[in-house]
Amino acid sequence: MSYGYFTGREYVITRPDTPVSFTNYLGLEDFVSVISHNAGGYSFFKSPQYHRITRFRPNGVPKDRPGHYVYVRDNDTGEYWSLSWQPTGGSVTGYESRHGLSYSRFSCERNGIFGEQTLFVPLGDDCELWDVKLENRSGRERNLSVFGYCEFSWHHINIDNQNFQMSLYSAGSRYTDGIIEYDLHYEKDGYQTFTSNFTPDGFDTLRDEFIGEWRSETNPDAVESGYCSGSLGTTGNHCGALMKRVTLEVGQDARLLFILGEGGEQAARGLRNKFSAPVAVDKAFDALAKHWNGKLSALQIVTPNPEMDLLINTWTPYQAGVNVLFSRFASFVEVGGRTGLGYRDTAQDAMCIPSLEPEGCRNRLLQLLNGQSSLGYGLHLFDPAWFEEKKDKEPEFKSPTVIPGFDKTTMIHGIEDVCADDALWLVPAVCEYVRETGDLDFCSLSVPFCDCGVATVYEHLKRSLDFTASQTGKNGVALGLRADWNDCLNLGGGESAMVSFLHVWALGHFVELADWLGEEDDAISYGSLRDQVIRNCEDVLWDGRWYRRGFTASGRVIGSDENAEGKVFMESNTWAVLSGAAQQERALSAMDAVDENLYTDYGLMLNAPSFTAPDDELGFIGRVYPGVKENGAVFSHPNPWAWAAECMLGRGDRAMKFYNALCPAKQNDIIDLRRAEPYSYCQFIMGKDHPLHGQANHPWMTGTAGWAYFAATQYMLGIRADYGCMRIDPCIPSDWKGFKAVRRWRGAEYKISVHNPDGVEKGVVSIMQDAAKVDAVLPVPAGSVSIVEVIMG
Ligand code: GLC
Repeated sequence: MSYGYFTGREYVITRPDTPVSFTNYLGLEDFVSVISHNAGGYSFFKSPQYHRITRFRPNGVPKDRPGHYVYVRDNDTGEYWSLSWQPTGGSVTGYESRHGLSYSRFSCERNGIFGEQTLFVPLGDDCELWDVKLENRSGRERNLSVFGYCEFSWHHINIDNQNFQMSLYSAGSRYTDGIIEYDLHYEKDGYQTFTSNFTPDGFDTLRDEFIGEWRSETNPDAVESGYCSGSLGTTGNHCGALMKRVTLEVGQDARLLFILGEGGEQAARGLRNKFSAPVAVDKAFDALAKHWNGKLSALQIVTPNPEMDLLINTWTPYQAGVNVLFSRFASFVEVGGRTGLGYRDTAQDAMCIPSLEPEGCRNRLLQLLNGQSSLGYGLHLFDPAWFEEKKDKEPEFKSPTVIPGFDKTTMIHGIEDVCADDALWLVPAVCEYVRETGDLDFCSLSVPFCDCGVATVYEHLKRSLDFTASQTGKNGVALGLRADWNDCLNLGGGESAMVSFLHVWALGHFVELADWLGEEDDAISYGSLRDQVIRNCEDVLWDGRWYRRGFTASGRVIGSDENAEGKVFMESNTWAVLSGAAQQERALSAMDAVDENLYTDYGLMLNAPSFTAPDDELGFIGRVYPGVKENGAVFSHPNPWAWAAECMLGRGDRAMKFYNALCPAKQNDIIDLRRAEPYSYCQFIMGKDHPLHGQANHPWMTGTAGWAYFAATQYMLGIRADYGCMRIDPCIPSDWKGFKAVRRWRGAEYKISVHNPDGVEKGVVSIMQDAAKVDAVLPVPAGSVSIVEVIMG
C-alpha cells in the first residue's frame, strides 16, 4: 500500500502512521535539521558531532522522539493534539505531511481547527523558523492555547549521551523578554535560543517541568493543564517551550512564528526583529524555492518514464546535494557521531553533480586534495578543519573534562589503513568538474598534501594514479589493502579487480585531460600504463563467462565459477565494462552474467550467492548476514554502474530494466514491503538470501543518489559535458520515441529534443544545433539559448 503521493516538488504523506520515519533535510548552510514527517528529529550547527542544538533519542521507542513540536489545546474542552500527528498520536485521519526542498510542512484539521506548521531554515540565518497557521473552520468561537516545544541538547553528542555528570550540571536557561536562552556554562559559544514573534503567555525551560513526572511528549503536563510553569534555572534538562492563548472567531485565522536559533539572546533579538512580520517569513521561504529552482534548472527532462522524470528533475539531485553537504554523518541511521568527510564517498558525490553545485564541488575537491598524502593515497576519513589555518588566534577552549577527540599525531594514517580506491575517485571527480565548468585553471592551483609538500592539482592526480600503479600483487592486479569500494572485502595483500578496473577508468579520464592541456608526454605514458593494466586484467581476471573479483593474499580466486559462494560480483563486471577495458564479446557475457545471477525485482545484488560463513582472508563480508548489506544485498550504489555499463554496450532496454527495478518512486505502492521513503534511494535492499527480501534500509546517506544522477543523465540520456563541447549520445529503451531536456551549461541554455524514429537503443545519425549540422553541441555565449535536435538511428 502507499502512504502518500508525489506532486510538483513535494512528497505528500497522507497516512502518517508509515512503517518507518520518512525524513527530510532542512538547512543548506551551518544550521541543519534532520526531521521526520511527524516533526521528530534534531538540529545541529556545523557539526552533528560537536555542536548539537536539539536532542534526539535515536532508534528509540516510540519512534523519533523528541522533535520540534507544536501542540494546540482547546481551552473549552481540554482536548489537545499536535499539528504533526505525533507526539500526541491518536487517530491518523485529517493529517498530512509534505516534504519539500529544504522544508517540511505538517497540517491537520482537528475538531474544526485547521492547523499548519512549516519548518525551514532560512538562507543566510542560523535559525529554524516554525511558521504556524491556524484557522477556525468550526462555526463557533474557539479558545485555544498554542505551545511550541523542543528539547535542547548538550553540544557534544558523546557527552549528551553518556556523560550526564557533565551535561546535567553544566546546562542552564533563563527567560528574558520572550526569549528563552539555553547555555552550556562551560562553553564560550554554548548558547541557543527559542523565541517567537508574539509575546508569550507562558514558558518553560525545564523539560521535566513541562512534561511532568512519568509522562512523555505524548501528554505533557503543561499542555494537558493548559499552563506553563515558568520554570528555569541551572542544571538539569532544558527545553524551549512557549505558549500563546489565541481566541478565534468563526472563520478567523492566526499566524504565529517560533524561532529556534543558534547564538545567545542578542542574536535572538536580531532574528526576532528580522522575522517579526509575516512578509519576511514568506520572503525567506520563497528564497529557498528560488534557490532550488536555480540549481535544478541545470537539467530538466521530459521522458516517457514519469518516475524517472520525478527523480531526475527533483529528488535525486536533491538527495545527491544533501550528500555533498553531509557526507554520511547525519540521518536517523547515522545519527551524527562523526564529523568530516569520507574520502571515497565525498569524491564520488562531488564527481556526480558539478552541474548543480559547481562551487560546492570545487570546495569539496580542494578539501579532498588537501586530504591526500604525498604518496598519493587519501585519508579515508578526515576532517578538513584539521588542515585549515586558524583565522582567529584565540586559544582553543579547554574543557575541564576530557572531550573525546583526535590525537593530532595519528591523524595521518599509514598504508595499513589505506582504502585502495579512495584517491582514484579524485581523478574523474576533478575531470568532471573541469568538463562542466571549463575551469582549466583549477588544474594548476597549488594545494598542500596532508603530510608534506605542495603540488598542483594536476600533479595530485598523477600521484593517485602512480600510487595505485605501485601497489600491485602477485598477479599484477591492484592490492586490496584495508578495503576497496566494498568496505567489507578486506583483502590486505590480496588483489582487487575493481581497483584495477577503476584505475583503468581514472587513467582514461586523465589521458583525456592531459591531451586537452597539451601535456603530450603524460598523455602517452599514462595511456600506455592504461593499456598495460588492461592487458593484465584480461590475462588474469577473465573467468570464462564473467570477470573475477580478485584474489586472496594466499592466491585463492574470488568471484569465480569455481567458488561455491560469491561466484559473481557486481563490482568487477560492471567496472570491467564501464572502464572500457573489456572487449565487446567478454563485456556482453559479463553483463549477461550480472543479469542472470544478480537481478531481482528490487535491483541488482552485489554478489551471489551470499557468503554463509566467516572467511578471514576475505574480510568482514562473511560476518554479515546473507542478503544484508555488502553480503548479497541489493546494494544500491553500484546499481548505476550497471546502467552505465549496459549503455556502453548499447543495451538501453536492459539499462532501463535495471533503472526501474531500483527506482524508489516505482515502489510507492509497496511501502509495507519497502519500508522506506519512496523519494530517496537507500543504501541497500535485502537480497534474495534474506527473508525480508525487498526491504530497503538506510535512506538518504548513500552515494547511490549521485551515481544514479550521473549514470542516468550522462549514459542513459547521454548528455555529457566535455572540455570543449557537450556530447549527446543517448542509450534508451527501443520503445521510446524520444525525449526532451533543457540543460544549462556554462551560463547558456540548451533545449534538446531527441527523436528516435526507428526505435533503436543507441546511435545518433544527426545533431542539428541552431539549424547547423554538428558532431557535438558547441558552447554558445552565456545568457543565450540554443536549440538542439538529435535524431537517433
Ligand atoms: C557505505 C560506505 C561507502 C562504501 C559502501 C560499500 O556506503 O559509506 O564508503 O563504499 O558502504 O561498502
